[in-house]
Amino acid sequence: MFLSERHFKLSQRTMRKRILELEKEALQELATVFHLSGLEKFRIAYFAKKGALTSLLKQIAALPAEERPEAGKLANLLKTHLTNRFEETKERLLSRQEEKASFFDVTLPGRKPLRGHLHPLTQVQQEICGIFGRMGFKVVDGPEVELDYYNFEALNMPKDHPARDMQDTFYVSDNVILRTHTSPMEVRVMESQSPPVRIIAPGKVYRRDSDVSHTPMFHQVEGLLVDKGITFGDLKGTLTSFVHQMFGRDTALRFRPSFFPFTEPSAEVDIRCVICRGKGCRTCSNTGWLEILGSGMNDPEIYKFVDYDPEVYSGFAFGMGIERVAMLKYGIDDIQLFFKNDMRFLRQF
Ligand code: DAH
Repeated sequence: MFLSERHFKLSQRTMRKRILELEKEALQELATVFHLSGLEKFRIAYFAKKGALTSLLKQIAALPAEERPEAGKLANLLKTHLTNRFEETKERLLSRQEEKASFFDVTLPGRKPLRGHLHPLTQVQQEICGIFGRMGFKVVDGPEVELDYYNFEALNMPKDHPARDMQDTFYVSDNVILRTHTSPMEVRVMESQSPPVRIIAPGKVYRRDSDVSHTPMFHQVEGLLVDKGITFGDLKGTLTSFVHQMFGRDTALRFRPSFFPFTEPSAEVDIRCVICRGKGCRTCSNTGWLEILGSGMNDPEIYKFVDYDPEVYSGFAFGMGIERVAMLKYGIDDIQLFFKNDMRFLRQF
């Protein structure tokens, strides 16, 4: 306690007692103040006009003249002491508030909420479907676990055809496989509707293969158009328009004679190498060209399986790998990147 007995030479015992009591009471109350709002209540209770300390000082003024100086001196000591303790407490509370404020810096820029987006392969697939969609092709979907009949037989690949090699195909049973391409959708669609037909069929396909340009599962888009009077010119026009929309108007392309069991004649489409622009590099094996799809006029043989009359109807088909298109479009050299789900890769699209 700040005030001690030695200060009390007063005859006025009650005044001495009151000063002592007030000091004890005030210090006790101050010890329970933990907020600035509580401190303000304390200030009002003791220092304000009607506060306890103020009225004590007023009472001293009413004391007999000979007792006034002594009592006044003590009361003023009490006032100074309480004021000092009050200021100390105020400073402590204010600095604690500042600490709290610096803990949460309201001037920092906000944190952007993470937003997902479509996988690059989905984006490219949608772009391909969009281009053909605007040319009137309807998107259709079909099974990934497929019958040998649709995947091979009805596409002019009989039982002894080398494309059925166990090296490439995942067999579920003798007659059931994981489709190795989206071409079985050609048969399924023709089987279920009569011409005119104008469809594209995107989806997953499976082959036993894995390296920088092959994964056991990948994606293809199949296209089929059948009508009266369809010629190789329609095939060229459609695919040229696709290449220009997908890779840019200035992308050169060529139709290179090829062979597929279900098309006759067949052609593969190459585009000018997107890396070296035709000069020759590692990506295009120094040819200046990159193969992007297989295509051809429907072989009349396959119409036999779906009851189309080849004397009345003709058509063309094409198939392309979505990963391959995406790799060429974005200059990606490792197909495995699409399936590793490394956010550093995916975020770039
Ligand atoms: N299905 C073939 C493959 O996976 C690609 C293909 C070639 C599809 C020619 C076609 C086509 O529709 O006409 O290699």
